[in-house]
Amino acid sequence: MSDSNLEAIQASIETELANTHSSQALEQLRVKYLGRKGVFAELTATIPTLSVAERPAFGQKVNAVKNRITALFEEKQKSLHAASGKAVSEEGVDISMPGIAQDLGTLHPITQVIDEICGIFTRMGFIVVEGPEVETEYNNFTGLNIPLEHPSRDAFDTFYLQRIADSGQRTEKLLLRSHTSPVQVRVMQSRKPPLAAVVPGRVYRPDAVDASHSFMFHQVEGLMVDENIRFSDLKGTLETFAKNVFGQDIKMRFRPHFFPFTEPSAEVDISCIICKGKGCSVCGRKGWLEILGAGMVHPNVFKKVGYDTEKYTGFAFGMGVERIAMLKFGIDDIRLFFENDIRFLKQF
Ligand code: PHE
Repeated sequence: MSDSNLEAIQASIETELANTHSSQALEQLRVKYLGRKGVFAELTATIPTLSVAERPAFGQKVNAVKNRITALFEEKQKSLHAASGKAVSEEGVDISMPGIAQDLGTLHPITQVIDEICGIFTRMGFIVVEGPEVETEYNNFTGLNIPLEHPSRDAFDTFYLQRIADSGQRTEKLLLRSHTSPVQVRVMQSRKPPLAAVVPGRVYRPDAVDASHSFMFHQVEGLMVDENIRFSDLKGTLETFAKNVFGQDIKMRFRPHFFPFTEPSAEVDISCIICKGKGCSVCGRKGWLEILGAGMVHPNVFKKVGYDTEKYTGFAFGMGVERIAMLKFGIDDIRLFFENDIRFLKQF
């Protein structure tokens, strides 16, 4: 084999490399020249056929060309990978290869609305507390000044659980709380004023399920107690809340109402976000949508937790989260929240 032959081989490899545009083609070329049965293996195999004098020089030349060619192959491989945007780690693993896609979930729309509501109130200085869904009859009714004969205590309006004996051997009725207001009692029993808290959570009522009723739904309760808390503080706080949730141009109105645990009490409406107050099917042509109940904490409630009714006043409110979420997202059936159909949940 002559030197010019080796040069010819090198030249032809260089042209072939220049015309190679894929990793697979490059690998085929590498096998052809540098593989175990490749051109260079064959050249090396001819060495024993040469005279002893010729062998070292020829061997060195073959090796020199082989090393140059190997370097050219490596260069080419790098440039091919760079061109195709692939990153190859040191071990030869293609780390740019797409992984197995994970389905990312989202927060449930009710959770999103609870977070938004609590966020607005925490920015006004309220703390967020929670209470148990299984409550005592005392916290759900008695501590809230709800008399024994009140219809909401009826077994048709409240899910009662079994009686349990407390440590004093008295029996205490347990129930699934029908509102978040019992947490007012818990907060006041464990803290002294000044206090401001919001309480998100589930509540239960034995209502027949339809597009606007569910046996389980969510409320956010609010409570503020201090010296000199006035009805205007309640109005300002709720107005700030409503404008944050529904927009700055929303209007509010307070309609006189009755709750045993607040006096005076009100139901609070916002101007219909669909028709802007003109009257439509969503607001029942009234132009207003009821969103919560509220009032000034009744002195009897303070007395039961041992607060000085001469010194302290406060306000409380309670809102239905599903109703607010339905208005906000334009959802017309409360059952959609609890069916957990992924096609529904994915939209929020
Ligand atoms: N607990 C009342 C309800 O569920 C709402 C409310 C809370 C009213 C606090 C006044 C004060 O209807």
